[in-house]
Amino acid sequence: MQVVLVGSGAREHALAWRLAQSPGLTELHAAPGNPGIAAVGRCHPVRAEDAEGLLSLALTLEADLIVVGPEGPLVAGVGDHLRMNGFPVFGPSAEAARIEGSKSFAKEVMRAAGVPTAETLSVARAPCVVKADGLASGKGVFVCRTPEEVDEALLAVTQLGGDFVIEELLEGEEVSLFALTDGRLVVPLGAAHDFKRIGDGDTGPNTGGMGAYSPVAGVPDADALVARVHEPVLEELARRGAPFVGCLFAGLMLTPDGPKVLEFNARFGDPETQVLMPRIQGDLLQLLFACAVGDVAGTSVSLSGDAAVTIVLAAPDYPARSDYAGIQIDGIDDAESSGALVFHGGTAVRDDTVVTNGGRILSVTGTGPTVEDARERAYAAVDRISFEGARYRRDIAHA
Ligand code: AMP
Ligand code: GLY
Repeated sequence: MQVVLVGSGAREHALAWRLAQSPGLTELHAAPGNPGIAAVGRCHPVRAEDAEGLLSLALTLEADLIVVGPEGPLVAGVGDHLRMNGFPVFGPSAEAARIEGSKSFAKEVMRAAGVPTAETLSVARAPCVVKADGLASGKGVFVCRTPEEVDEALLAVTQLGGDFVIEELLEGEEVSLFALTDGRLVVPLGAAHDFKRIGDGDTGPNTGGMGAYSPVAGVPDADALVARVHEPVLEELARRGAPFVGCLFAGLMLTPDGPKVLEFNARFGDPETQVLMPRIQGDLLQLLFACAVGDVAGTSVSLSGDAAVTIVLAAPDYPARSDYAGIQIDGIDDAESSGALVFHGGTAVRDDTVVTNGGRILSVTGTGPTVEDARERAYAAVDRISFEGARYRRDIAHA
């Protein structure tokens, strides 16, 4: 199969690395990809949002499958454009991707599906959570415990422009739970824990994610949770004429009153994918293809008993800025030779040297029989990598 993978982050590198191991793969192509992906596939200078460019690439390559990584192109309808032109696409339609693209739409679908979620509040009074309605790369959510934080949050969402929602502040352990689907049938994938805040001890602003681990002890039965959370939402979307094809990602809070949904995403998580891909058993390509062509009946996926931990190396000004470019990165080969996986997020190659090019620069994944072993390996590999100003959390997956 000729496969086109759309996107350029560490999540896409992890997907590319796993897809490259599938026996059914003829060649892996990425649009636009990144220097890490270039080691396992061919990168083409087509932007992820460029629907026409992607279509002409798919036509030229006679693509058998297109896998869309990021939410932006999905919400913008890139998947629809490719599908309308006859290509199997792993990734939802724009209509179904509204489950991520609009917080108010997601709330409405959850209510109709009877899926437990935080209550919507009509006034912003601490404690509460203020969320910008549209896409904001994880940076449009403000958890407010004091009146001052509410004022700051209202100012910030106003500056982001557009609508916002206010909801009850939930307490508990947060987990990311993934399921793959062809629009009708659901294949539970598993759970990971993401570290959203920039600072150690969960301090500072929210980010796209600074690290992750899997498995999560608090989720002993992912299948049961998927049946309770994902399945009713997928049924509701199908009932509305917007069946969801792809990876449905629920951000859950395990509260004392049971699991409640914080948000849905219409794609794989980043950095959760960097811990799930090393644990996936079997043929990922076959599974994604089965979802894209509406044929997952009888398919399942299992995760290895090994644990995985990933640490994100970010730019010094991340999350305020994501444009840290041109700084030399040393030690990637050394880290890889220690047995760790180094997934490129925001890198470029200049004069044969890998340099920074973004906000979240690299994801370094260690694996091992326990989360502790995996964490040790991940941090040992991180120690071998350096670039000026690198920042990362030192408490990822610490008990
Ligand atoms: P979201 O983009 O909606 O997942 O929100 C980003 C992060 O904000 C979540 O991962 C949580 O850490 C936090 N968050 C969102 N909603 C709530 C809530 N209702 N209660 C507590 N924390 C929340
Ligand atoms: N790690 C959270 C996300 O991908 O949105």
